[in-house]
Amino acid sequence: MPEFRIDVARDIAACAATVPLQEETWSGDVVVPPQLMLAVVHNGGFVALGYAPEDPQPAAFVFGFLGIYDFHFRHHSHMLAVREPYRGSGLAQQLKEAQRDHCLDQGIEVVGWTMDPLEARNARFNFGKLGAFTRTYHRDFYGAMPDKLNQGLPSDRIYVEWPIGHDRTYKRLRGENTAPALEDAEREGVGYLLRAEGDRPGAVGQIGPAHLLVEIPRAFQELKARDPKLALAWRTVARDAFERAFGAGYAAVEFLRSADGRCAYLLVPQPKRGVAGAQGQGPLGTK
Ligand SMILES: CC(C)(COP(=O)(O)OP(=O)(O)OC[C@H]1O[C@@H](n2cnc3c(N)ncnc32)[C@H](O)[C@@H]1OP(=O)(O)O)[C@@H](O)C(=O)NCCC(=O)NCCS
Repeated sequence: MPEFRIDVARDIAACAATVPLQEETWSGDVVVPPQLMLAVVHNGGFVALGYAPEDPQPAAFVFGFLGIYDFHFRHHSHMLAVREPYRGSGLAQQLKEAQRDHCLDQGIEVVGWTMDPLEARNARFNFGKLGAFTRTYHRDFYGAMPDKLNQGLPSDRIYVEWPIGHDRTYKRLRGENTAPALEDAEREGVGYLLRAEGDRPGAVGQIGPAHLLVEIPRAFQELKARDPKLALAWRTVARDAFERAFGAGYAAVEFLRSADGRCAYLLVPQPKRGVAGAQGQGPLGTK
């Protein structure tokens, strides 16, 4: 694995260097202009680029800004992209760790971002490797999007929360305290709220009272390219499953994989807000 260099962006040239990467990842239609990025950087936000040795082009970047959520300061991470040849190299995690350090220095405890719930790789990265969780679902959050990853489907998103000061997060980043296998959860009798039937989503089952699994396709972009109607069916059924579960007080706290490539979110009931000792607590015991 190459030794990557992480450069924190402080000028317009560094912000401009993200543009070809944005275009390559999503297409030119949704590019954040470098002037706006620089203004954000000058106001508490964060842009960092990852470089591989011998390659003058950035291999990856992350971009986020300061915000307020639920009455607390929070960092909103808007974009993270790694160029194809460098995926799976650990660079994405290095950039998230640099972003975490920036936020901890500001006294911020939670980084948030939105994510398409049907993207298994992103789910594995966010939940399995970073230790994030979600309890919020937004239908068609950005409206119709023209870029190559999002076009043709409602842009539903889960709102991911990453408690960066939490001990569980540190352990996850060090590769300790890893997620169990999907087969283990199945052996323990955890039931499916949504399970695939071949390529198709099955019917949404009953909520609770215990842990639940929500299965998603293993390669959603491939499925979408092959069968757009089936992709829309997944969008609709998964939306129903997440909305019902979150409405009943569940949070998704893990993303589990099986040896044969199936993958599912693990959802757990949250302590009720207002119950003694549970007020203000997140699903992972975070503030
Ligand atoms: C999302 C992104 C930044 C992650 O970077 P990455 O280098 O691919 O991430 P990593 O390889 O460290 O982690 C991804 C994990 O998902 C796994 N994975 C890959 N494809 C998978 C799939 N189809 N199903 C389940 N897991 C999958 C990888 O094996 C890895 O887990 P592991 O290391 O435990 O085996 C990168 O893939 C990317 O740029 N994607 C396009 C842009 C994007 O979606 N950005 C995020 C939203 S703004």
